[in-house]
Amino acid sequence: MTRRAVIAGIGSHLPERIVENAEFADRMGLETSDEWIRERTGIKRRHFAADDETTSDLGFKAARKALENAGLTPADLDLVLVATSTPDLTFPSTATMIQHRLGMTHGAAFDVQAVCSGFLYGMHTANALIRSGAHDRILLIGAETFSRILDFEDRSTCVLFGDGAGAVVLEAADDPDRGIIHTVIRSNGAHKDMLYVDGGPSATGTVGKLRMLGNAVFKHAVTDIAGIIRTCAEEAGQDVPSIDWFIPHQANQRILVAVARKLKLRPEQVVSTVAEHANTSAASVPLAWDAAVRDGRIQRGDSIMLEAFGGGFTWGACLLRY
Ligand code: ACO
Repeated sequence: MTRRAVIAGIGSHLPERIVENAEFADRMGLETSDEWIRERTGIKRRHFAADDETTSDLGFKAARKALENAGLTPADLDLVLVATSTPDLTFPSTATMIQHRLGMTHGAAFDVQAVCSGFLYGMHTANALIRSGAHDRILLIGAETFSRILDFEDRSTCVLFGDGAGAVVLEAADDPDRGIIHTVIRSNGAHKDMLYVDGGPSATGTVGKLRMLGNAVFKHAVTDIAGIIRTCAEEAGQDVPSIDWFIPHQANQRILVAVARKLKLRPEQVVSTVAEHANTSAASVPLAWDAAVRDGRIQRGDSIMLEAFGGGFTWGACLLRY
């Protein structure tokens, strides 16, 4: 038997409030402009959660849509994973909060913390747990409220991020033609100072704000993303340009273009939602994936390469057949 983790359903949710680029200059008084943000990042707007809206609220709504899309109920799940760096509370995990809101008193739930690569780390974990036989049906959510950890006086970071959530339901199936084919994850803690949050329970007793040396991160991101996509495809015995779709972490349109050039991809193969969502960290890949499923571009049976790069540094790739 080929026990594979197949995608049973997908869904996403964005908070109602849309923040246009112009607001950073007009309302927040920053020395920036719509033109600078569009040219340097490709971002036009992003969604921000309401003051009383938490990561678990967004994640729960995305989860409900993914379950509905799969034709399943929470009773069918045996594990809930949440990839996030902006949990509601230091503990308990956002995953157990969502598990409770789904009405589950069975199974287990835990958070995965790998910043923007969290969803890829989640796919790697879910794949291993399903293939090993430890779990049969896993709900994997990427959910973030990065607006809560932005310094709105720092124009070099606060314009880049947004809030949102995306979710997939993965289930065991004896089907060699569908599901996750291969995953690769990597990390290297040597570059912590280029991208981090300057607070935490044990270091400062505060939540902290995001700090990033964007230019330096950019260079690492392009090299490491292109490298891990090649590794993932090679280990799976697949030729990179022959993959139908590339769904990258949505940090900056210029990173997407640079990686696509390095890998000789056609622009139409690359799903980009960075203009509308900005960087939603662990939520960005499932948000982009769901958008391309909903607008009819991605069809059942298509091959897809997911990839992400983020704080840690962490990075990862996942090849699958939808
Ligand atoms: N508006 C106007 N000017 C700005 C802004 C802004 N919002 N932000 C920065 N600038 C200025 C800088 O101060 C600098 O001015 P100076 O030349 O007078 O010093 C100038 O613009 C150029 O700054 P750079 O940092 O060189 O700009 P760059 O073209 O590299 O773009 C950016 C910056 C968008 C941050 C880019 O480097 C980037 O996207 N980096 C990668 C981000 C990423 O992938 N992060 C990983 C995932 S995130 C995670 O894991 C949480």
